[in-house]
Amino acid sequence: MEKRAIELNRLDLQPFSAFDPDGLLLVVGESVEKANVMTIGWGTFGIMWRKPVVMAMVRPTRYTWEFISEAADFTVNWLSSDKKDALQLCGTASGRDINKFAAAGLHPVQAGKVSSPILEESVLSLECRIIYKDLLRPEQFIDPLLELHYGQKDYHGLFYGEVVAATGTSAFLRKDEKDCTALHAD
Ligand SMILES: Cc1cc2nc3c(=O)[nH]c(=O)nc-3n(C[C@H](O)[C@H](O)[C@H](O)COP(=O)(O)O)c2cc1C
Repeated sequence: MEKRAIELNRLDLQPFSAFDPDGLLLVVGESVEKANVMTIGWGTFGIMWRKPVVMAMVRPTRYTWEFISEAADFTVNWLSSDKKDALQLCGTASGRDINKFAAAGLHPVQAGKVSSPILEESVLSLECRIIYKDLLRPEQFIDPLLELHYGQKDYHGLFYGEVVAATGTSAFLRKDEKDCTALHAD
């Protein structure tokens, strides 16, 4: 599979369908040897502080929490549609119990700009440097229905990562070349 560096103003990514149909893979760790992978289905893509930002939501009950709560960075990785099984496995099994990379047939490899690995099998990877983090505060839930997601009171941590590199196939490359106008001041 041929992949190349993609400039963010040429990245073709739809924020409201980016997690469809089976989620993405969040990879966090200080090296290829010391990392964990987990499926994520919630998060946002946008502009904050004039930076392109990915926000990933991780519950403290995940093994991934032990990595991301201490981490400087993370990566998000898209797989091709024939790899549903890998997404299912990484979203149900825990790295506490098994090496999910091996079990899912995934190979973590050194990223270009961050310590957390990307995946050799990914069709698109975003490398993200954590610039802000927070824990959801239920007293701030305006819509009481949000609480329905937290039967175990395991409120998500929110990890905001500045996207510092994107690598992917040409399918993620916008065909038209427009100027990047999104990074204006607030
Ligand atoms: C499609 C899908 C999306 C998921 N999205 C999230 C998510 O955004 N945040 C989260 O904390 N857990 C999410 N999960 C659950 C974790 O992936 C799952 O609990 C996983 O086993 C945690 O692995 P770990 O213990 O190795 O960290 C999702 C699971 C699936 C199947």
